[in-house]
Amino acid sequence: MKPVSLIQFLIEERRAGHINAELSLLIEVVARACKRIGVATGKGALGGVLGMAGTDNVQGEAQKKLDVISNEILLEANAWGGHLAACASEEMEDPQQIPDGYPKGQHLLLFDPLDGSSNIDVNVSVGTIFSVLRCPDGVTEPKAEHFLQPGTTQLAAGYVVYGPATVLVLTFGHGTHEFTLDREVGSFILSRRGIRIPEQTAEFAINMSNQRHWQAPMQRYVGELLAGRTGPRGKDFNMRWVASMVADVHRIVTRGGVFYYPLDAKILDKGGKLRLMYEANPMAFIIEQAGGAATTGRERIMELQPTGLHQRVPVFLGSKQEVELATHYHREADGAVS
Ligand code: AHG
Repeated sequence: MKPVSLIQFLIEERRAGHINAELSLLIEVVARACKRIGVATGKGALGGVLGMAGTDNVQGEAQKKLDVISNEILLEANAWGGHLAACASEEMEDPQQIPDGYPKGQHLLLFDPLDGSSNIDVNVSVGTIFSVLRCPDGVTEPKAEHFLQPGTTQLAAGYVVYGPATVLVLTFGHGTHEFTLDREVGSFILSRRGIRIPEQTAEFAINMSNQRHWQAPMQRYVGELLAGRTGPRGKDFNMRWVASMVADVHRIVTRGGVFYYPLDAKILDKGGKLRLMYEANPMAFIIEQAGGAATTGRERIMELQPTGLHQRVPVFLGSKQEVELATHYHREADGAVS
């Protein structure tokens, strides 16, 4: 069969009425920017891009040089095309406006330019995550409040994982699709259409070093997984933790599994570790569109009404039946279900 490039796929999606010309251009621009980020990450020590930038981001976290470079690549690529009203980045306190005199569009773009950046220096997969919302009608200078829309309103979401291969996973709400970068030709080529995540799994991803800080229902749930074949679940479970959400989610999108970053006593005041707008919502959209589930352990992530651009939430996502069981244990402990 003839390979389908991302551009051809976007034309198909326009013909099907799933996206308009502006959203198609937006995705093309983001994909092109991600190719540049992939080149920068791929240079490793030879590019002088490893190590710390000497600055802190809005979350007070030390920035890696590649965090800063990736953020600039995405901002610069998206400034001129006329497809955006504004964008927001995990790395910046406030939304970035389109410079004066440049054409503006109707979309809001949110991104985590380089997720898992603690893995850069050790040459482990990192990635970019993005989410697209519609700018409310009549708003010409979008502020943070205009981005605070529930995940159910996302028009598109995607991630690019910079691993052994550079892979883009994308949804417009009509299934989840995967594109692999042909590095010689420079094009993303459709490698899987209509991905389905198995409803059951025997593989889970969690940072076990936080175990002593977890709440009781999480202790119970993971305790049962660890008990294996002779425990209440009656089967052995395997564990993986890359500590790059893109890589852990990509494994789930490829062979099933579950990913948990639950609330724990250490991060209780922050509400969670991962960011709703840049990580949880786009990943939830991608996972749900592939037949999986995504909750905070208590509620569906995409139904949360965001309260802040940099809000953090607990994240449970992946194979439906496992996420539902872990969520049930939390809701039961809260007295929300019997
Ligand atoms: P960052 O973008 O600051 O590198 O954070 C990475 C995120 C996410 O990608 C990953 O799943 C999680 O943090 C790892 O957290 P731990 O280091 O606590 O395991």
